[in-house]
Amino acid sequence: MSTFTSKSSTAAAVTVNTLRSLKQAREKIACLTVYDASFATLLDEAGIDVLLVGDSLGMVIQGRDSTVPVSMDDMVYHSAAAARGRRRALLMVDMPFMSYATPQQAMVNAARLMQEGGAHMVKLEGGSPQVETVAQLTARGIPVCAHLGLQPQSVHRLGGYRVQGRDAAAARAILQDAVALQEAGADVLLLESVPVGLAAEITQAVAIPVIGIGAGPDCDGQVLVLYDMLGVTPGKRPKFARDFMTGQPHIRAAVTSYIEAVKSGAFPAPEHCFS
Ligand code: KIV
Repeated sequence: MSTFTSKSSTAAAVTVNTLRSLKQAREKIACLTVYDASFATLLDEAGIDVLLVGDSLGMVIQGRDSTVPVSMDDMVYHSAAAARGRRRALLMVDMPFMSYATPQQAMVNAARLMQEGGAHMVKLEGGSPQVETVAQLTARGIPVCAHLGLQPQSVHRLGGYRVQGRDAAAARAILQDAVALQEAGADVLLLESVPVGLAAEITQAVAIPVIGIGAGPDCDGQVLVLYDMLGVTPGKRPKFARDFMTGQPHIRAAVTSYIEAVKSGAFPAPEHCFS
């Protein structure tokens, strides 16, 4: 049974085609994470292009120390809530840890995110091991964002949240993965915590939009975890994040300021980037 209450889409709704057109027009794509209906409405009305129901909800909503414990039911619940609030923005939803270990499993779980959660696009982490999965999902009409660079679901293998692609071999591997995922049908790439130069090279090398977080100003768009940009995440803010609430009278103004800073290229500034 579907838990998603459908809303009629308007002509101005953001689609995969809109994102491609924005890249071609060199207009930056503004994206934020979201986990509920109220914030989905607020961000949507402010003009955000893409809402990401991130598995970061495991950390910022559930208080866990990684995204690994997040379940499919968690993602469906938060996606359906956000879907009820959005009207125009494209709704991208994370596939949680081990929900896409095989192409078959990915198909079943991506279908759940779309049918029960109202997702327009699913996001999964991984390079070459995910090429077959991306090919099978996209061949069946499921738009996919492939997440490269720092992959938080692999934190225990990586030994921490570290910048990726700093040496030449690692950078080459990420670039090759980006091209292979595009060829497999990926609609969008998300690049997390990679050096500015590598992100610029990848963004040039692929025709599909590249959304960055900690990947410098040359990506086609930017994403931040909502709670980081509102300054409510406990503890130390990541280097790549900026608190947009500073000096703003209310949340709506902070979100508008974030969108304007992304669109104008003012964010990220050099202090938010890795070399
Ligand atoms: O889960 C999430 O919020 C993400 C962002 C870090 C991009 O994937």
